[in-house]
Amino acid sequence: MSANREHFSSRIGFILAAAGSAVGIGNLVGFPVNAAKNGGGAFLLIYAIFVFLICLPVMMAEMAMGRKSQKEPVGAFKSLGGEGGLWTFAGLLGVITPFMIGVFYMVITVWLFGYLVMLIGGNLDYLADPASFGAFINSGWVFGALAVVATIVNFILLAGVKDGIEKAAKVLMPSLFIMLVALVVFVLFQDNAMAGVEFFIIPEFDKITPTVVNGALSQAFFSLSLGMGILITYGSYIDKRTDIVGSAKLVAITDTAVAFTAGLMILPAVFSFNPEVNPAELSDSSVSLIFTFLPKIFLALQVSIGYAGASIVAGIFFLLVFFAAITSLVSIIEVPVSYLVTEKRYSRKKSLKVLLATAGVLTLFATVSFGMVAFFTEFTNYANGPKSFFDVIYDIFYDTILPLNGLLVCLFVSYRWKKNKLSEELAQGSENYIGSLSEKYINFALSTFIPVILLGIFLNTVATKFF
Ligand code: PHE
Repeated sequence: MSANREHFSSRIGFILAAAGSAVGIGNLVGFPVNAAKNGGGAFLLIYAIFVFLICLPVMMAEMAMGRKSQKEPVGAFKSLGGEGGLWTFAGLLGVITPFMIGVFYMVITVWLFGYLVMLIGGNLDYLADPASFGAFINSGWVFGALAVVATIVNFILLAGVKDGIEKAAKVLMPSLFIMLVALVVFVLFQDNAMAGVEFFIIPEFDKITPTVVNGALSQAFFSLSLGMGILITYGSYIDKRTDIVGSAKLVAITDTAVAFTAGLMILPAVFSFNPEVNPAELSDSSVSLIFTFLPKIFLALQVSIGYAGASIVAGIFFLLVFFAAITSLVSIIEVPVSYLVTEKRYSRKKSLKVLLATAGVLTLFATVSFGMVAFFTEFTNYANGPKSFFDVIYDIFYDTILPLNGLLVCLFVSYRWKKNKLSEELAQGSENYIGSLSEKYINFALSTFIPVILLGIFLNTVATKFF
């Protein structure tokens, strides 16, 4: 183990940081809406099965690769025997993917920050007008908000692993849990809330189609921050005494619990604050839900608790989502930072400067691709019409490359690094692992059906998205 590589100070610090990465916009908004629209309890069941039987083994494999190698993705693949060819490519993808998804995530975080400031300024009524979102994202505001978000990320990451990432997670995650629980309790006591709970959890098995199943797996995979090199990198910041198997389970449980709890907040809110709402209005996209639909819902609350009360509830919601987004953003930018520090011998400071400047420029391109600048708005054309720069990043990296990265990790640990090495690594800190049912399942699953499923998703996405 490299003596001077920085480590998390405790197991709980590691778990909170990994959970901070996992808990994001996907859990708080994407999951509840997906679940409610696609079969309620039936979707929850499928999602939970995917999290524990498919995603969890991949999560453990990533963490084990990181801890064994004490390196970020490029270094991890290389030092565990993957020199040259496909594995160099896998390592590079493991650094480029998080960087590009980071850009896409940064755009949304910037908007969240802007909305938060607007709410603090008492502008809920303005935000509740659906036309405001377009006006806001195409205004000069976003440049200032971008500078603030980049500064926050820089501030946390510059302080390093223990004093930056871990400390931020230890403050932001508990605050997030408290705000979430407070909002759920508040919402559940409102009239008509139970209609939302029912809409969220009553199973409708006939809504489960192959597309829904595919969507549930992609959602679970993204939600646990897999395929982005994040857990390889965070795994490289723990020592041999840390139990990976147990920690990974806790991260998965926390992530799923937050997603489920978020459903108990969003859907009852939709049904109770604005009884006239038509559930069909629930959009597929988290983005339009957060920024155009929910502000309207919050404003309706003024009838019972007044304008200031409604603004406070909305403010807490946006702060909650903003905290979740910051801990995810930090985790994703840490991957390329770690790459430059470990492989290129840059200082943290210089790495951050280079990366945030580049990400900032790309984020600007993505930001102006919502109408402000025609070149980026109609950046290219494929499959079903013109695509903005933002769409392109989303389609390529989120939809397509993520499952590919997962597939490469499964193949690598099973057939290159080898199963017995993976088992040995997972057994460190988890005494009874060797010979356990978990070990047999994980080795079997990672070398057989999980890569087959991920390959299927990858090919299906390529075929449907790009041709
Ligand atoms: N798990 C995050 C979510 O649910 C996804 C993510 C993690 C995105 C890290 C970016 C960075 O939103």
